[in-house]
Order: sequence, then C-alpha cells, then structure tokens
Amino acid sequence: MTDYINNNNKLDFIAKELQAREKNNYLRQLNPIYPNSTVTVIKNDKTLINFSSNDYLGLSKHPKIIAASHDYLNQYGTGSTASRLVTGTYDIHDKLEQKLAKICNKEAALLFNTGFQANTTIIPTLVNQKSLVLCDRLVHNSILQGIFLSKAQWKRYQHNDLEHLDILLKKAVSQGYNRILIVTETVFSMEGDRSDVDALIQLSQQYNTLLYLDDAHAFGIMGEKGMGLTAHKSGIDISLGTFGKALGSFGAFVTTSKLIRDYLINCCPGFIYTTALPPAVIGSIDAALDIIPNLDKEREYLCRQIDYVRNKLINLGYQVLNSNSPIIPVIIGHEEKALELSKYLENNGILATAIRPPTVPKNTARIRLVLSSKHQQKHIDYLISLLQKYHES
Ligand SMILES: Cc1ncc(COP(=O)(O)O)c(C=O)c1O
Repeated sequence: MTDYINNNNKLDFIAKELQAREKNNYLRQLNPIYPNSTVTVIKNDKTLINFSSNDYLGLSKHPKIIAASHDYLNQYGTGSTASRLVTGTYDIHDKLEQKLAKICNKEAALLFNTGFQANTTIIPTLVNQKSLVLCDRLVHNSILQGIFLSKAQWKRYQHNDLEHLDILLKKAVSQGYNRILIVTETVFSMEGDRSDVDALIQLSQQYNTLLYLDDAHAFGIMGEKGMGLTAHKSGIDISLGTFGKALGSFGAFVTTSKLIRDYLINCCPGFIYTTALPPAVIGSIDAALDIIPNLDKEREYLCRQIDYVRNKLINLGYQVLNSNSPIIPVIIGHEEKALELSKYLENNGILATAIRPPTVPKNTARIRLVLSSKHQQKHIDYLISLLQKYHES
C-alpha cells in the first residue's frame, strides 16, 4: 500500500499516452484562427482560404441571422438560466420546435444542446443490455459513445452494405433481444457519401426495428428545400439534425413522433439535466430556417462545384472517396504524409486539415476538403493548382 502511494506517479498514464500519440503522428493540438470572412481565416497573421469548415452555405456571417441573434439576445438576455424542465423553456424554444416539426413534415421536434449530446444520450434511452444495436462500420464517434453507454450488444455492418445489414437482421430476430435498433448517418462525416435512406426504412419495417438516422451533414443542404434527407419521410423513429454545420450556428434537434418526444422529455438525461440553448443561438437558428428554403441556387452551385473538384482531383491522380456531398476526402494513407500535404497547402494560403486515426481507420489519413457555396471559382481553381503542383513534385 505504502509503495503504491509513494512510487506511483498518478499522471504517468497521461504522459505515456501523449508521447505515444506524438510518436505515431496522432497528437492533436488546438490552432486558433480568426474567421475574417465566410471562406477565409487569419492564422498566425496570414490569410488562408478555408477548405475545412462545415459552414456549407456561409450562414455563420449572414447579416439577417446575426441581426436575429442580436434581437433575441437583447429581448431575452444572455442565457436560458435553467434546464428545459425547470424554467428554461421560453416561448422561443417552444416555437422553434414547432417550426422544425412543420418544415420537416414530422409530428414533433425536440432541441438538444449539441449533436454529440443527443447521440450519446438518446441511444441509451432507447436500448439497454437486452437489446441489439446494428450500426454502419463508419458511424460518428458520438453514436459509438451512445452505444457503449447503453450497454447493448452491438454489431457493425460493412460500410453502406445493406445486404450485410439484412444478414445480421435475419440472424438477430430469433435471438431474443428486447429491441433492435438500426443507427447510421445519412451523410458520413469523414467519407462524404450517403446512406440509402429508403432502403433503411424498408429494412427497419421488415424486421420491426427502431431506426435512428443522423442527418447532421445533410440538414441545410440536401433534400427538399434543404431540409435534409430524412424530412417528409415516415418510418424513421428519430432523425437528428444539427445547427453547427450548414446553419452556421450551434445546437441540434431531433424530429420524431409525439410519443417518443414525450418519452425523451421524461427519460433522456442529456435533455433533462442541462441548461437550455441560449436565446442568441435560438434567434440565429430561427432566422436561418427562414433563409435556407430560398437557397436552391446556392445548393445547385455547390453540387456543380463538388463534381468539378472531384473530377479534377481524380484526373490529377488523387485517391478521392466516392462522396456526393461537399465533403471530399482525399486519401493520403500515412499520417505523416497527410500532415505534410496540409502544411504545404497552409504555407501557400489554404487551410485544409489532415484527418488522422483514430478519427478515421488506420492507413486512411486524409485531407478532408469541404466546399462552401461561398467559395468562388478562383478559390477552387487555386486549390486545384496547388494540389496539381504538389502531385507533380
Ligand atoms: C455525423 C455527426 N453527428 C453528430 C455530430 C455532433 O454534432 P455537434 O457538433 O452538434 O455536437 C457531428 C459533428 O461532429 C457529426 O459529424
């Protein structure tokens, strides 16, 4: 006992972990930037064109959205001052939920403080140790954390392979689980490709499972009027959207049935035990929801640029994943090489972050290029010219 107290440096494990990460080129650091426009930032006194942000429509700087945020801030104050079930439900939270349900054509909606919080806490509210969760091999970490917390059995199907999911479901239905939950993303955050939402609904109905779809990267830029790939569709028990990406704001919501909404209000810890989203954030979301349906031209421009960039990079000889979203992952393989390319781009005026394991599978370190409708042709052509030079060097 004495030896343990005297000899054990209680922080050894931390130093060891950080050293191991540094050795493998996995160490992460925070790099402050100043976002001086929708598509440029200042980093270390240098202006860089940003090809890494999820602000797909440049709404984080939209004057009407900023004005609405100011307006709510002035009227309601800086904070919501309590959790939703105490005194943190203002009329603006309630109205926003009704608006979200209506534009997504769903029975009900419920706000969450972040997408991470929603995924980690809704999943354990739906399933338990007697349940089975079937998820795509490449789902976001927040979904995995939710599954771990639930203590349910879980299996992953090969990425976007619904035949594999079908095989797992066939086996699972006779194994005595109390519930089976299928959970996946509609647009994969690190791959940029999409799930087949209709086929997932069909499988969920065929095997009588719960279906939870994370629409974080589609909401705002895909589907009818930009309302995502799950809006207007029945057969999805819970669909998650986030406001921190295409809406340029912060927070998340789910659309669901009235019954499940009531259940989450009563039983979901991540909804119950946290202070409600602040008024300025609610104001920005409310204004963004008025603007987004009218941005079809911007979404069409974005689609054209996605095809343009992908084709150019493939012709240059880069390994580009088969994405069909503004997320264009350029696979480099080794972490060191991905960091080197990212550094080269930064030295030449472009911010394009390297994404490394464990965020992505081993040997698939990548530059995750993200396009915005605010990128001008000259920004995009400059990026391509740099990537061409780098490839030829
Ligand atoms: C697919 C997916 N789900 C959930 C989240 C988490 O959302 P938030 O940033 O609101 O916590 C993210 C963002 O990183 C994401 O990419």
